[in-house]
Amino acid sequence: MKSKIDQISKEITSLKASTIDEVEKLRIKYLGKKGIISDLFKEFRELEPDLKREVGAHLNLLKKTVTETIDTLKENIEKSSGNQKKVNIDLSLQEPSFNFGTRHPISLVKRELLEIFKKIGFSIYEGPEIEDDWHVFSALNFPEEHPARDMQDTFFIEKNPDVLLRTHTSSVQVRSMENEKLPIRVVCPGRVFRNEAISARAHCIFHQIEGLYIDKNVSFADLKQTLLFFAQEMFGKETKIRLRPSYFPFTEPSAEMDVSCNLCGGKGCSVCKYTGWLEVLGCGMVDPNVLEFNGIDSKKYSGYAFGMGLERIAMLKYQVKDLRLYFENDTRFLEQFTNY
Ligand code: PHE
Repeated sequence: MKSKIDQISKEITSLKASTIDEVEKLRIKYLGKKGIISDLFKEFRELEPDLKREVGAHLNLLKKTVTETIDTLKENIEKSSGNQKKVNIDLSLQEPSFNFGTRHPISLVKRELLEIFKKIGFSIYEGPEIEDDWHVFSALNFPEEHPARDMQDTFFIEKNPDVLLRTHTSSVQVRSMENEKLPIRVVCPGRVFRNEAISARAHCIFHQIEGLYIDKNVSFADLKQTLLFFAQEMFGKETKIRLRPSYFPFTEPSAEMDVSCNLCGGKGCSVCKYTGWLEVLGCGMVDPNVLEFNGIDSKKYSGYAFGMGLERIAMLKYQVKDLRLYFENDTRFLEQFTNY
């Protein structure tokens, strides 16, 4: 029986057919109910168990090869005669539309900001979102009883109050001071978390970029000039800035910066609430305590820092009225930023 199988195996390598009818005849000859393969299986059933074991696999393989060979013959004929099964194709149908993704406005603003600061020598520095009390508060000169340390403002993620989600990217300032050699000139982008009720103007997750520059003789004038450069690159060459005194535990003196309203040019409109100014960021000279906490001699070195919310910058740049839109992933909103 094995020799029969071998012989048929050889035979089928040279099978030929030029019409579908011929293929059908071959199929009946080999694979039909009374065909060669079926006869072989009948014979197979009569074999001794030992022989069965030996021959079975060969026989199955033969059946498979014959089936494949005949299928291939049929396909080839169909292809060459262009005789494929007729499919109803409506050539007037429009192809399904394909939407390219667009960059998220927050990513666009982040990229633009980082480019601006790269031009004047800042490099990017990143840190973890899950932090400890030291990097978020203590090393930044937050007094023990400061309200930001309260459950109401900070997300603690374990019973241990030393494990928390950073409430600002200023924690990355601390990490850069720990790890980098002086002078330091970094911008730190990242997500921050605050335990706030979600509304059109506040969210519990948002994005910040922190800037830090520490060297000998860094002055408030350097800070002001850097911020003016940033504001004019971001909002246009006509943009003016003003600094208002403010308070942060980690800077002294501290200020908040406004830019002239880019919609009304400072004349007053509903976006700037008729003041002509838009609040953009917090900044100041790094408090000597913060330098000392981080092992930097505050008699030799000084520095400035600033921090801003990306959602806020994107709101001003693209006139977005509701912060929640950034998080909803509604493509009708996101698609509008394709051309920026
Ligand atoms: N960390 C401050 C905030 O989140 C912003 C800030 C950064 C202010 C650096 C001054 C200097 O509000």
